[in-house]
Amino acid sequence: MNIKTSVFVSSLFLLLFSTTVLQAQEDAYQKYRSMFQPIPTIPPIPADNSLTPERIALGEKLYWDRRTSKTGATSCGFCHHPAYYGAEPMDRSVGVFGEIHAANAHTVLNAAFHSSQFFSGSAATLEEQALGAIRSHVASRSWPEEVAQRLNRIPEYKAAAQEAYGAPLSEENIGKAIASFMRTLITPDYPLARWLQGDEQAMSEQQKRGMASFVDKGCAACHTSPYFSNFSFQKFEIEGGMHHEGRYKVTENEDDKFRYKVPSLLNVAMTPPYTHAGVIKTLPEMVEVMGEKMLNTKLEANEIEDITAFLHALTGEMPEDFMTIPVLPIGGGTGDFGPELMPSGKE
Ligand code: HEC
Ligand code: HEC
Repeated sequence: MNIKTSVFVSSLFLLLFSTTVLQAQEDAYQKYRSMFQPIPTIPPIPADNSLTPERIALGEKLYWDRRTSKTGATSCGFCHHPAYYGAEPMDRSVGVFGEIHAANAHTVLNAAFHSSQFFSGSAATLEEQALGAIRSHVASRSWPEEVAQRLNRIPEYKAAAQEAYGAPLSEENIGKAIASFMRTLITPDYPLARWLQGDEQAMSEQQKRGMASFVDKGCAACHTSPYFSNFSFQKFEIEGGMHHEGRYKVTENEDDKFRYKVPSLLNVAMTPPYTHAGVIKTLPEMVEVMGEKMLNTKLEANEIEDITAFLHALTGEMPEDFMTIPVLPIGGGTGDFGPELMPSGKE
């Protein structure tokens, strides 16, 4: 055999060998493939609030409008900003009067798929959730009907509401419009989804190993595909994180103290700090803490790295619309705001 043929034969051998090894590894991941599904490209839409371009456009304006808050300081976008993947980098939110909230603002991306909203699950629908955020003592401190009155004085808003819901702004259609906009804030294009759809290169070997550990160690029991949450309420007690009593807020049942809704892990790599109160600062640390507290397991350093890499495969492309802030209707911003103007004595 001359040198050329021998190089040829040995490289052929190598090629055969490595494809067999890779094939075997791929097969090993087939089992996991069936355990995950990509998220749908359209979220559930309630029958009484069908999604139309007019409703989405109105909701987008309200989402960004500081005139929805008592002092004009905050809007949904203030705490849930696309620059931070719909979440915020602070441990806990700062409200309209500079007060500190009990919780970190988690991302609004894909919230349209959650079966309840907030760590306590206190809002069942996005419509309720949006009104809850406007009323919140910390977030906006306004009464939605006051916001409606204020914004109806701006002709462009009144007309936009008329077009979207056939009526001027009201408590009900403010909630519905914001919810409509939120239904567009979804991220169905992420590496795991692409891999599930057949793009073998979409995830690295390390991410695939991490996927296997995520299942084998038991993370998927609570962080279930496709949303990486089963939306149950689980006990989680951590130092520095007890300002918020979790599910107890809703049920007043002692056993529900410090039970929090399992958060979705979609885009989690982009939204530190972690936990309901921003107590844990980095993703590897959070993975380690979950192993200890939820699974009673001390994860090895390489397992933590692999699982962290896998969680990066859940980062999706943000919708274009979310990254451009609309120009808002002009007017109506004077004489109506300020800490001295408390909401209509209803508190
Ligand atoms: C001052 C900051 C602030 C403002 C303003 C604010 N939020 Fe939030 N948001 C938070 C915090 C903090 C949480 C977590 C609270 C909790 O779960 O107890 C949250 C939770 C949420 C959630 C639930 C996410 C989940 O995973 O359960 C959604 C959805 C949301 N906000 C949307 C909105 C919308 C829509 C508006 C505007 C109407 C808004 N927020 C205004 C801070 C804010
Ligand atoms: C028994 C249910 C359960 C299991 C098992 C579990 N988790 Fe969690 N996970 C939760 C709950 C509940 C929270 C929310 C805690 C909080 O916000 O205070 C959470 C939070 C997280 C967060 C932070 C999310 C955020 O945005 O703040 C990450 C990351 C995470 N889990 C990853 C994992 C990994 C990785 C595993 C496996 C090693 C795992 N979890 C196992 C219930 C669970």
